[in-house]
Amino acid sequence: MPATQSTVRLINHLDRDYLRQALETDVRNGLTATPKWLPPKWFYDARGSELFSEITRLPEYYPTRRELTILRARAKDLAAAGRADTLVELGSGTSEKTVLLLDALAAAGTLRGYTPVDVDAVTLESAARRLAARYPGLAVQAVCADFERHLALLPRDGRRMVAFLGGTIGNLEPGARAAFLAGLRKTLRPGETFLLGADLVKDTGRLVAAYDDAAGVTAEFNRNVLRVINRELDADFEPESFAHVARYDGEHDWIEMRLRATRAMRVRVGGLGLSVDFAEGEEMRTEISAKFRLEGLRAELETAGFTPLRDHTDPAGDFALLLAGA
Ligand code: AVJ
Repeated sequence: MPATQSTVRLINHLDRDYLRQALETDVRNGLTATPKWLPPKWFYDARGSELFSEITRLPEYYPTRRELTILRARAKDLAAAGRADTLVELGSGTSEKTVLLLDALAAAGTLRGYTPVDVDAVTLESAARRLAARYPGLAVQAVCADFERHLALLPRDGRRMVAFLGGTIGNLEPGARAAFLAGLRKTLRPGETFLLGADLVKDTGRLVAAYDDAAGVTAEFNRNVLRVINRELDADFEPESFAHVARYDGEHDWIEMRLRATRAMRVRVGGLGLSVDFAEGEEMRTEISAKFRLEGLRAELETAGFTPLRDHTDPAGDFALLLAGA
């Protein structure tokens, strides 16, 4: 093979049985709990990933643009500080922002590998192929996995920078977050780095608007989890009978997305042999998106065993990128 040929290897830790089992467990636990809840990872089938991409272009949804602003200004410094030859990206999605980091690593002359990790196999594979075509000689290992469950299985090749962008860490509650950070720290060797994107605490009105856009895209994204359950678990949710709710919880510093039943309903989940009653007005939590303060986040990284190296915010102070060493 010529030296400039890129390679794409697909690694799947989420085979149909695993996914089915995990979805069944989550849906059974969530729909039989009081109050009801569902974990946000099930938003992301192919349609959900597309809706999320649309969200990132909404006027109200600032995080993606702010993070891009920071990356444009700092990717070069971050690449130099990390001295990585392999970029591992957790929750990579469409990998749109990734090119800034890959360009910087390529310009520094160190880039050898890219390892995107995502739960949505379709989006993952197309992003992997697109980036392999863009960077000659890049060794792409696309890993379909759940970053909360499969950290220990990530490829260990090279000197890695693990990027976790977009503020996705905000989906984890504090306990799960601490476990995730400590688990990630354990998989890294000295000299490897962690690049974390996090949304910062700000004016409540702007936060809520970012999760309750005028065009209703976030509402469709929220309801998409019901469509996923209908399809995968033979359920009969009527998505249109659930209203999108976004609220800021100032005690926990997080946005909560919920689905509110607009009338009393009995939903049958055939695949689980389960019937679930919703009262009119009952709200089911579908996502938290935590917002951070820099000091707090640095402290969480230290508690997990990382050494904070540098942090950058956009000029408006909306979003932060933190680089930490293992
Ligand atoms: C992909 C988890 C970063 O929390 O802002 C966007 C998901 N949900 N709008 C976020 C999301 C509703 C997003 N993350």
